Amino acid sequence: MERDMMDIQLCDIGIIGLGTMGRNLALNIAEHDFSIAIFNRTPSAIEQLMDNKPDRTSMKACYCLQELIHSLKVPRAIILMIPAGSPIDEVIDNLDGLLETGDILIDGGNSYFKDTNRREALLAAKGIHYLGMGISGGDEGARFGPSIMVGGQPEAYLQVRFILERIAAQVENKPCAAYLGAHSAGHYVKMVHNAIEYGLMQLIAETYDLMSRGLGLSASELQTVYSDWNQTELSSFLLEITADIFKVEDELAPGYLIDKILDKAMQKGTGSWNFAEAMALQVPAPTLDISVTMRNLSALKKERTIASDLFSGPIPSITMERNDFIEHLRKAFFAGIVITFSQGMSQLFTASSKYGYHLPLDQIASIWRGGCIIRAQLLEKIRLAYCNQNELAHLLFDDSIRQDVEDRQASLRHIICTAVESGIPAPGFMSCISYFDSYRSAHLPVNLIQAQRDYFGAHSYERMDMDGQFHTQWKERI
Ligand code: 6PG
Repeated sequence: MERDMMDIQLCDIGIIGLGTMGRNLALNIAEHDFSIAIFNRTPSAIEQLMDNKPDRTSMKACYCLQELIHSLKVPRAIILMIPAGSPIDEVIDNLDGLLETGDILIDGGNSYFKDTNRREALLAAKGIHYLGMGISGGDEGARFGPSIMVGGQPEAYLQVRFILERIAAQVENKPCAAYLGAHSAGHYVKMVHNAIEYGLMQLIAETYDLMSRGLGLSASELQTVYSDWNQTELSSFLLEITADIFKVEDELAPGYLIDKILDKAMQKGTGSWNFAEAMALQVPAPTLDISVTMRNLSALKKERTIASDLFSGPIPSITMERNDFIEHLRKAFFAGIVITFSQGMSQLFTASSKYGYHLPLDQIASIWRGGCIIRAQLLEKIRLAYCNQNELAHLLFDDSIRQDVEDRQASLRHIICTAVESGIPAPGFMSCISYFDSYRSAHLPVNLIQAQRDYFGAHSYERMDMDGQFHTQWKERI
């Protein structure tokens, strides 16, 4: 029997904010047979969604927060799909006095994890649950199955679990949605997800530069390479869309669209939050960091253009046999992906104990296998690594992953040498090999840094052969 609002007294869930993500998530929820109450500050977005909602779905248009509150089953569950930052605080303020003990507010945006902790505490004092929910997959993911990373009180998650697991992407009949830990665990994991996303995108951009400027490959040749790569162990969403991008011709002028796009990469903040956070935790994550730095450097378009006339460098032409180089690049790229994920997972490992999240790393890898931007075939291997060893301190200690990098490190070195010789920047790849070489070095030259610190600042140092802190009057000993 066709369902309409006449049959439905109260809705299963509510949503505030009908931008692209909010609208698509609402449609996804409704199409999974849940009744949903929708509210947006600008009523036209409500009308638009009501006009376009598929038949047989139950949606209730609400034109004020009171109406939304009265349209929901108790305890109420409301998803906020509004921009991160002060808009969330405003809505929380506006809901004050309307929500009741036991109600659940779910922030589905890319909120800063410390804001989520603050909001959770604020609402907990009023008996209201607050879940920080990272949603990945862009507007298409929201519509047809995102990856959903939730943090907060477990009992609140249980109330909405059924809905979230139904609307999430499914991989091998398992939902890509999970409760990941207390407080801001969900938003924290989403921030690291985005930092990995930055890292992978930077590496792909470098492969593009090496093949385009270095080998002189055309857009259609690049399209072929990327779609071929996507048939291998590199298979991933980002590679798939990269191959697609090189197919698209410009509508406004002759040629491919990619060649017309200004080379300034924008960012909304999650990458730089992660940069600061990795530093605060003292977790080395150089590929994630450099990817943010490269976006910042790309923004200096005017200066770069001047500098390109001022400075000379090698001719960016790679002389190695084309197919050999592409195969080295493919292997180097795989090693780079592994090392990038390793850095992100290692940050999660440290954050997990630092913030008491108790993050299930195997489950995180599992829910990243589908729906999200960093979904990749490799994630199944990563999942298995953490299934085998729950307390794996570093992904590179997993036998299978270690072997993957071992087998490809020669190609990674080769690509980097070629990039340097031809003057094509490859900071992402370089950060991967430097990280790898440093991580596998039992000895690093920082004994010298310790000596310098002690020399100029009497900061003291430890010795390898004796316990304790030592200080030397260096000048007196010269
Ligand atoms: C996702 C994306 C999503 C979004 C970022 C892009 O998982 O769906 O990460 O959150 O694309 O906002 O971030 P930048 O604008 O910083 O590149």
